[in-house]
Amino acid sequence: MRMRFLAPVVLCAVVLASCGGGSSENKTEKKEEAASETPADNSMVTPGAAEAAASKGAALIEQKDCKTCHKVDVKLVGPAYKEVAQKYEATDANIEMLADKVISGGSGHWGEVAMTPHADLSKEDAKEMVKYVLSLK
Ligand code: HEC
Repeated sequence: MRMRFLAPVVLCAVVLASCGGGSSENKTEKKEEAASETPADNSMVTPGAAEAAASKGAALIEQKDCKTCHKVDVKLVGPAYKEVAQKYEATDANIEMLADKVISGGSGHWGEVAMTPHADLSKEDAKEMVKYVLSLK
């Protein structure tokens, strides 16, 4: 009676000992694999949001006629973007005001020469451009 009761327990113990050892090895291997994959995943989702916004403005400026009168660090017909960035802080009010200037044109702030209006620009695009300009300190 006692033996019949014990036998399955002993068998189970033996089976568990051999299988248990094997399976725990497998587990640690899997863990290591998972750990080495995690950093790779992270690097895919960390482009700077601010950088992306600035480059959108830069791309818009590239598409327009801005570069015939402006350069980043040299005065042409209009002031260098870096001078503009030094003159104005990147506040919401300044971005609004300068975006309106880019759309409707302006003069008198940097000399007698006027900036031509860019009536086809949307306010949103003009703001992206101004944000980019003001990021060029
Ligand atoms: C025909 C030449 C010309 C073109 C094209 C031009 N600008 Fe200008 N820009 C000027 C001049 C001149 C000024 C200085 C105006 C002033 O004295 O108020 C100026 C001023 C600016 C300023 C500063 C405004 C201020 O009140 O201080 C910004 C910002 C600017 N331009 C952005 C742009 C962008 C963005 C574009 C393209 C969409 C562009 N400009 C296209 C000539 C130009």
